[in-house]
Amino acid sequence: MNLQWTDETPRKIQSFAGSDRRKGEPDDIDDKLTNEHVDQVAEIFSTPLTGAYNWDYTIQDNRIKKLYELGKELNWNAEMDIDWNRPWPEEDFEQGAALMNLTDYPPYMALTEEQKREFWLHQNSWSLSQFLHGEQGALLVASQLTSCAPTFNAKLYAASQTFDEARHVEVFNKYIQQRIGLMYPINTSLKSILDKILTDPRWDLKFIGMQIIIEGLALSAFNTARETTPDEVLKDIIYLVVRDEARHVTFGVNYLEEFVKTLSDEEKEERAQFAYEACVVSRERLVATDVFAHFGWDVEEARQRVMEGFVMSTFRDLLFQRVIPNLKRIGLMTDKIRPKFEELGILDFENLPDDGDIDWKAMERPLDVTEEQSAEQAAIKEQMEKIVAERLAQQETCPITGRPMAEVLAEKEAASA
Ligand SMILES: [Fe+2]
Ligand SMILES: [Fe+2]
Repeated sequence: MNLQWTDETPRKIQSFAGSDRRKGEPDDIDDKLTNEHVDQVAEIFSTPLTGAYNWDYTIQDNRIKKLYELGKELNWNAEMDIDWNRPWPEEDFEQGAALMNLTDYPPYMALTEEQKREFWLHQNSWSLSQFLHGEQGALLVASQLTSCAPTFNAKLYAASQTFDEARHVEVFNKYIQQRIGLMYPINTSLKSILDKILTDPRWDLKFIGMQIIIEGLALSAFNTARETTPDEVLKDIIYLVVRDEARHVTFGVNYLEEFVKTLSDEEKEERAQFAYEACVVSRERLVATDVFAHFGWDVEEARQRVMEGFVMSTFRDLLFQRVIPNLKRIGLMTDKIRPKFEELGILDFENLPDDGDIDWKAMERPLDVTEEQSAEQAAIKEQMEKIVAERLAQQETCPITGRPMAEVLAEKEAASA
């Protein structure tokens, strides 16, 4: 075992030759980490974890028990339940550019067709890499919760979630290595949230950070990605992962709702402040700045540009539509923190449905990757098609091929009819 311990997160891109996306392409990324350097890079973190045995083995909450049973029933296997042999799909760069607000961004327009192809490879790799790193964070936190959670049911549930997260890490890692062929390092803001959650001594803060904020982030990013990717393999993966994540959030809200009641006002304020800060970071900083830097763009300018695009604004809306009602439900929308959320302009979401009331029929339905997954995804699809059509109609010629736009649109229409 070639093992290297480090205190710093590696910042290089990793490359995997022979992936479906990069078949036959030269491996010419300069700034990369290769297997000749080291087999395993292990970054150290320390945590003052206070664990707890449970000696009475009382099954205290039937909803948590039921969620645990569902987790066992709805298990899936990335090797068997996903057809990995489908060809890499045709990519529609114009659509990607319209959705990310880059169509008329000069540094993007200046790229050649080949460079644009490369840019979308990197953009795609960056997003999937953040899914992967986030899932590793979830795996580590869920395993901590197994030790820390005080009640018997929560320990069993956290253990089953740990196994879910392990499969999520497995499936995204396989997807990146086999399908895409490039892996980006973790976004520094995502890393700072994970660091905080993993190293904080308060178990319930870990719980709030993971089950409400990170799971909320994951669900909104996954729902956006499932509708925007052209790859059927990724659509299937996200379907399966989201079925698990929905259970995780529900567990968090149901368990925390009871637990937060046991905290003092001061303790509640601390947790509320932490949740608020994590929301601010998630709203502003989870953007592919490493990709912009790789292509030599002005990182801050490109970040602001992309923040206004469809993908990022949809992601933010979905995030807060979920996180804000859940924070309210568990009792963390305190009078002190409320004005701060109001300043962010996201308090409108407060009265939307939360994940505390369980729709058992939806939770229990058998796995079927072909189903329309959720109303959220259907709404994204509809809006997305509108935006792409509007953007494309505004242009006289296709920015890639130079052909008249009317011709390109007529072709698209004929193909979808
Ligand atoms: Fe996960
Ligand atoms: Fe999860």
